[in-house]
Amino acid sequence: MNILAFESTCDETAAAVVRDGREVLSDAIASQVDMHTIYGGVVPEIASRKHVEAIVGLADKALSDAKLTKGDIDAVAVSYAPGLIGAVLVGVNFAKSVALALSVPLIPVHHIRGHIAANYIAHPDLEPPFVCLCASGGNTLIADVRSYTDMEVLGATRDDAAGESFDKVARVLGIGYPGGGPMDRLAQGGDDTMYELPRSHVEGHPLDMSFSGLKTAVLNLAHNAQQKGEELDYPGLAASFQAAVSDILVPRTMEAAKRKGDGKLAVAGGVGANSRIRGDLEIACKEAGVKLYLPPLKLCGDNGAMIGSQGYYEYLSGHTAASDLNAYATRDISLG
Ligand code: KG4
Repeated sequence: MNILAFESTCDETAAAVVRDGREVLSDAIASQVDMHTIYGGVVPEIASRKHVEAIVGLADKALSDAKLTKGDIDAVAVSYAPGLIGAVLVGVNFAKSVALALSVPLIPVHHIRGHIAANYIAHPDLEPPFVCLCASGGNTLIADVRSYTDMEVLGATRDDAAGESFDKVARVLGIGYPGGGPMDRLAQGGDDTMYELPRSHVEGHPLDMSFSGLKTAVLNLAHNAQQKGEELDYPGLAASFQAAVSDILVPRTMEAAKRKGDGKLAVAGGVGANSRIRGDLEIACKEAGVKLYLPPLKLCGDNGAMIGSQGYYEYLSGHTAASDLNAYATRDISLG
C-alpha cells in the first residue's frame, strides 16, 4: 500500500511516499529555519504562509522521487494534531483536497505518534509493545506503546517541552535558533559540572517532568553575569544544561521502561538527536538489560516519512477521516 503523507505542524513542510508502513520511497522536506532564525523563533503566521508556498511542489517532488504517478497512491495521510494551528490547517486542507481528487482514503495521524513511527522505518525488527521517550520542540512525554495504535502517556512535562528549553537558553546565549543542535555541539568541549543547575521533580508524580525552573536558572545566571560584567564559560554552561536535561529525562524513562514495554525502549523527536541524552540512555539501558532503539538523526526531526509510516498502521486499525476532518493545536496521544 502506497501512502502519500504530509507534515506541516511547525516549521518544516514535508511530503513523503511510504510503502506498507516501513519502506520509504521518497521523503521531501522544505525547512523554514533560515526564515525563523531572523526572529529567534518560529513566527506562526510566517510558518503557515511558507507551508502554503511549499506544499504543492513538495507533493510533486515526493511522487517523482518515488518514481510513481498519482494513480499509484492508495491513501493520503496527514499530521492533524498537535501543532501550530495555522500551520497544521495548511497540511490538513491540502491533504483533504488530494484525497478527494484521487478518490482515496484520508488518514489523520497524530504528530507524536508519527515521531514514534520513525523508529519503525529505522528498525525493521521493532514492534510494539515498547516504551518511547518523545522529546521535541513542542512536546515531551513518555509513552507506553501497547500496540501500533493503542498508547498511553506514562509521564509528561508540566510546563516547557525539553526542546523549548534548549531553544530559549540558546537564544539568551545568542547561539541561534533552533538551539538544540548548536548547544549540543558547544557542550562537546565543556565541563558538565561547571554550573550547578536544578533537577526539579513533580511531587507525587515520579514520571512527570518540569523544565521551566532549569531554563529560568540558566537565564538568571546569564543576566547576573551580564550585570556584573563577568564572562560565562559557554561550553561549560551548555554541557551543564544538557546534563541537567538528561538527568531529568533519563531516570524517568528508565523507570517507565522498568514498568512497561517488554524490555524495549525507543526514542523519538528532535531532542532525541542530543548526544548526551543518547549516550546516557545507552549506558542506562545496558545496565538495566533494556534493548534501546535510537532513530538516526535525520529521522528525529519532523519529516513526512514518519507520518506515512504511522498512517499505514492507523489505516489497518480502521482509522480514516471524512472530508470534514479538522486540525487541533493540542490532542492527547491516546486519542490518535
Ligand atoms: O521534533 P522536532 O524537529 O520538531 C517538533 O516536533 O517540535 O524538534 C525540534 C526541537 C527543537 O527544539 C530543537 O532545538 C531540538 O529539537 N533539537 C535538539 C537537538 N537537535 C534538535 N535538542 C537537543 N539536542 C540536539 N542535538
